[in-house]
Amino acid sequence: MPGGQPGFLLTNEHEMIRQAARDFAQNEIAPIAAEFDESGDFPRETIRKMGEMGFMGIEVPEEYGGAGMDSLAYAIALEEICKVDASHGTIMSVNNSLFNYGIMKFGTEEQKQKYLVPVASGEAVGAYSLTEPMSGSDAATMRSRAVKNGDHYVINGRKSWVTSGPVADYIVLYTVTDPEQGHRGITAFMIDATKPGFVRGKKEPKLGIRASATSEIVLEDYKCPIEDRLGEDGQGFKIAMTVLDAGRIGIAAQALGIAEASYNASVSYAQEREAFGQKIGQFQGIAFQLADMKTRIEASRLLVYNAARAKEESKTSGERFTLQAAMAKLYASETAMFCAHAAVQIHGGVGYSKEYPVERYFRDAKITEIYEGTSEIQRLVISRMETGLR
Ligand code: CAA
Repeated sequence: MPGGQPGFLLTNEHEMIRQAARDFAQNEIAPIAAEFDESGDFPRETIRKMGEMGFMGIEVPEEYGGAGMDSLAYAIALEEICKVDASHGTIMSVNNSLFNYGIMKFGTEEQKQKYLVPVASGEAVGAYSLTEPMSGSDAATMRSRAVKNGDHYVINGRKSWVTSGPVADYIVLYTVTDPEQGHRGITAFMIDATKPGFVRGKKEPKLGIRASATSEIVLEDYKCPIEDRLGEDGQGFKIAMTVLDAGRIGIAAQALGIAEASYNASVSYAQEREAFGQKIGQFQGIAFQLADMKTRIEASRLLVYNAARAKEESKTSGERFTLQAAMAKLYASETAMFCAHAAVQIHGGVGYSKEYPVERYFRDAKITEIYEGTSEIQRLVISRMETGLR
């Protein structure tokens, strides 16, 4: 396995996108990552350049503004971006998996032209809005409503934790059209942020991924034409879950990148820093931590790449890849936290300083265990799939 990569899964094309994403991250993102983390500003300029590189629509065919590559290429590119900065990775992952994937799979030709082309080419920013203040893990309990009125729906409600909410141009939004039907009464809509009735709410002051903007959004008598409904009435919950299966592979790739960054910093520090007359990497207490980090990273990589392979196969077979995605996200996110925690500890005092990047990796790692389904939800999904019990 040259360079520690599971080469048996990778083609030359995958190696090329890895190198392109790695070079871009080193040259364009590394110099600004700490500054944007500190300010919490949205990194518009680098996101625009990522669009030019094709990173905002990696799996979208070229005729719809994307790069026309496969699911593994997407996971690899995201891993490399997140090795340098998870905030840029979050923005990239929402565009690619939570926005583009759903429109590719469920959108009409007209919706693809109108919404997918600008987002996949990086000219516009996409978002996904499922969560509400009282509806997180139990996603089917949402209170927002869309009421059909002739040729349009009128949408009212408050959505929360919308990644890219403060800047998004277009949002796939899930809301209740038939409260009697439970999860079968939820419908998906394409929202245009320039239209009346769309209001951006409070921006969240976050622990990590601070350059990725997150906010509430409020719909006040927002008129959504029927042609902007994604899928059929009542199909929204299944669309949301199908899209989250794809999203979870993106977060798993992000977690893998954060884990690798934490590990690489730890190895370098353990090779240089001396205490009690020797390199700290010579102490078994440090050496064994490095061994555990490395092993968990390689296991995560196999789970992530395998889930990406299953997702790619599903494009022709139609088979769900729910189990593979949930296992990859669960294991890789807990590995990111494990590695970032160890990295801060190995660095000692300087690990706690903003002059070194490991404290940022530590803050950024935590979200991967929470968003797009907490670790508890991943365990629930995996166990339900295996036992068939609920
Ligand atoms: N693919 C397709 N269909 C699916 C599915 C999947 N992965 N998972 C469930 N379904 C279908 C079921 O087959 C079922 O279909 P029927 O109507 O035919 O019976 C239906 O959906 C309901 O399924 P469940 O009964 O299993 O639903 P549930 O209410 O028990 O919830 C859950 C299941 C897994 C807990 C789900 O609610 C869930 O994933 N919760 C977590 C939500 C989440 O991840 N939120 C994050 C939002 S995004 C975000 O973080 C912000 C951001 O911007 C990044």
